[in-house]
Amino acid sequence: MKKRIVFVDDERHVLDALRRMLRGMRDQWEMTFVSTGEQALETMGKSPQDVIVTDMRMPGMDGVQLLNAVRERFPGVIRIILSGHSDTNMALQSVRHAHQYLLKPCGAEEFKATVDRAMNLKDVFLNDAVKTVVAKIETLPSMPRTYLELMAELRREEPSLRTIGELINQDVGMSANILKLVNSAFFGLRTHVSSPVHAVNLLGTEIIKALIISLRLFSRFDMERFPGFSLDLLWKHSLTTGLFAKTIAQVEGRSNAEMDDCYISGLLHDVGKLLLATNFEATYQEVLRRSRSEGRTVHDMENTLFSATHAEIGAYLLGLWGLPESVVTAIFFHHAPPPANPPGFSTLLAVHAANSLEHELVVFNAEYAPHPMDLDFLKRAGQSGRVETWRIACQEKLTEEYRLERETPLR
Ligand SMILES: [Fe+2]
Ligand SMILES: [Fe+2]
Repeated sequence: MKKRIVFVDDERHVLDALRRMLRGMRDQWEMTFVSTGEQALETMGKSPQDVIVTDMRMPGMDGVQLLNAVRERFPGVIRIILSGHSDTNMALQSVRHAHQYLLKPCGAEEFKATVDRAMNLKDVFLNDAVKTVVAKIETLPSMPRTYLELMAELRREEPSLRTIGELINQDVGMSANILKLVNSAFFGLRTHVSSPVHAVNLLGTEIIKALIISLRLFSRFDMERFPGFSLDLLWKHSLTTGLFAKTIAQVEGRSNAEMDDCYISGLLHDVGKLLLATNFEATYQEVLRRSRSEGRTVHDMENTLFSATHAEIGAYLLGLWGLPESVVTAIFFHHAPPPANPPGFSTLLAVHAANSLEHELVVFNAEYAPHPMDLDFLKRAGQSGRVETWRIACQEKLTEEYRLERETPLR
């Protein structure tokens, strides 16, 4: 069935340009072009739409008002902002209103990829329990500015690694943290990384983007308000889960891009915990207290008290921020893989297994409930016979990491 998309822009020539640019999509999309928010709502009232793409600054009803009305009246519609105002503030403020953000000028390929990605992430964006929790969060963290600027550079035809390195350099705190991290034993790089440019060269832009995100989310967390929550342990758990997920992909002979996806998913898989703890302090204290006293996992207790878990909330935010679909899906399902997963390797499989193995092999706190792997999921994927190999490979990585840490205590 064709996807139905309504486009809203007060400038005629913009609509004409869009129509021309997307002509090739007519066999897949049924497109309607209107020039005001009122007309868009009218169109949506008459025939159900899948996606709305709107400009932000319009006379009368502006983009924010329109998207809020759409959210209330047509909650099943994917909301995308297409803004010509390339000021980062607009993008920073838009996270609450839209599922995706695009900057004009935007080519047909990028446009199509964004719509497809948002549609494929419907499970994440339109999940009722997640929506309810997200609606209660007053300020969703905005994308780090450095990350936005980096994305802008990456959109250029020939992005320059030097410029990317310099962008990170301008953010003094970020650059110091990135260097500290990539020089730590977790990365196992046998060379000293002296500058952000060097780090980008060695690790690639995808990993650097994920590091910026995780460092920013972790640094926003106010530890003093959570005496029972060890940020340090969560950070180490995240780094090791990333390392394990990548190791599993490596053992399975996957491509470099897949190994990167696995690493990124492992690194970010639990960021939803930070969001929940920061925004629902009292309830999250209860989650932590009761999960320990009742011997239940944190995500199980989150489900009881929020009807949603850190997995889903984290995936929602990272989906908004434009992380790859496989990463967002892996994070969304990392505790509860879907019953109908296709056979074979997936990022989700690697992260699910890596998270369990981390809980098994690195015992930080004996009070935590065990996180066994979902054996049915592994069986459906045809991978249950591989677990022992992964366990051995991860154990080896861990030993190597500890050895490096001892050898280079100052890094
Ligand atoms: Fe988790
Ligand atoms: Fe975890």
